[in-house]
Amino acid sequence: MITRSPEFIWNAWHVAALANEVAGDALFARRLLDVPVLIYRKQGSGEAVAMLDRCPHRFAYLSKGLRKGDEVECIYHGLRFGADGRCTHSPYQDAPPPGADVQTFPLVEKHRMLWIWLGDADKADPSAIPDHSHMDRDDMRPLLWHYHFNGNWQLGNDNLMELTHLFFLHTSTIGGWKEEPGKVPGEVYTARSDEQGRVLSRTFVPNIPEHGTFDNGVPHGTPFDQWNDTVWEAPANMRFTMGAVPAGDDPASCRQPYMEQTHCITPETATTSHYFSGFTRIIELERDAAGDQQFIDFFSGIFAREDGPIMEDIEAQMSSHDLLAHNPVVLPRDKGAILVRRLVAQRIAAEQG
Ligand code: FES
Ligand SMILES: [Fe+2]
Repeated sequence: MITRSPEFIWNAWHVAALANEVAGDALFARRLLDVPVLIYRKQGSGEAVAMLDRCPHRFAYLSKGLRKGDEVECIYHGLRFGADGRCTHSPYQDAPPPGADVQTFPLVEKHRMLWIWLGDADKADPSAIPDHSHMDRDDMRPLLWHYHFNGNWQLGNDNLMELTHLFFLHTSTIGGWKEEPGKVPGEVYTARSDEQGRVLSRTFVPNIPEHGTFDNGVPHGTPFDQWNDTVWEAPANMRFTMGAVPAGDDPASCRQPYMEQTHCITPETATTSHYFSGFTRIIELERDAAGDQQFIDFFSGIFAREDGPIMEDIEAQMSSHDLLAHNPVVLPRDKGAILVRRLVAQRIAAEQG
């Protein structure tokens, strides 16, 4: 059995991998919530399965073993396991030894990602997987990629639930607009939690004179009103929906978002994290594979040079991962991030009893 660290929320769906990271017959290994996990696809159906990446005999990684059809043979002494975790064969006995089964985990492929449930298996309800259905829209050319950072997973929530850092940390890349956040006439920021335990926040900025990094459907030269609606779902799954209209127009006249983003963070360990990020957009010039790769490289570079190092610094400055216990200064735009911190603390406390 796995040890459940109180650093994490266990009874929740976490992204384990992008769907295309697990391909063919490969045995894919990834540490999630400090648990070594093996993921692979069954032949024929292509269904992805997940199990503890630890042989019950001498604890070798099963991911270093050999695939035998839909079974995995341990590289060390040859015990063999089925996709359901059952030990099917021992080279030393007629029947598999007792107690040799490997723990499996519910795994669901949805929205081009593989979602894993590492908590109580009987509580795993696939309908509770957060909605990132924009990733299913081929006409929006969905792009998804994976980052890694050296920091606690909750730093990802803090970072993405408080986007005013764009104005400072990202001035040379995506934070082009030079007004001070919170001092733009008519700007509105709201954040609240709902009965489903989500946090919903909206930033509405009127009368922006210049297009920034992204085209938003409003003709160039026309000032526009722009907004970002963020939905956060535990533990660290966020969706941004961004829209714009010519300044002063009814926001309801916006036919569709010009961009939607997926940001999902899964702890690797208490101090390192996986970050799955994805975009769909209606307007971009380069829509071929090379343009897509440029787009991914651009954002990966920003994260690697700007957000990642900040999170690493913060990790080094905090003696525990409980931000609120460190008595931080709170700014008006922290509301969404603080709501998330509180909900996460409640969920962890409830699970730990
Ligand atoms: S460690 Fe796997 S069979 Fe021995
Ligand atoms: Fe950032």
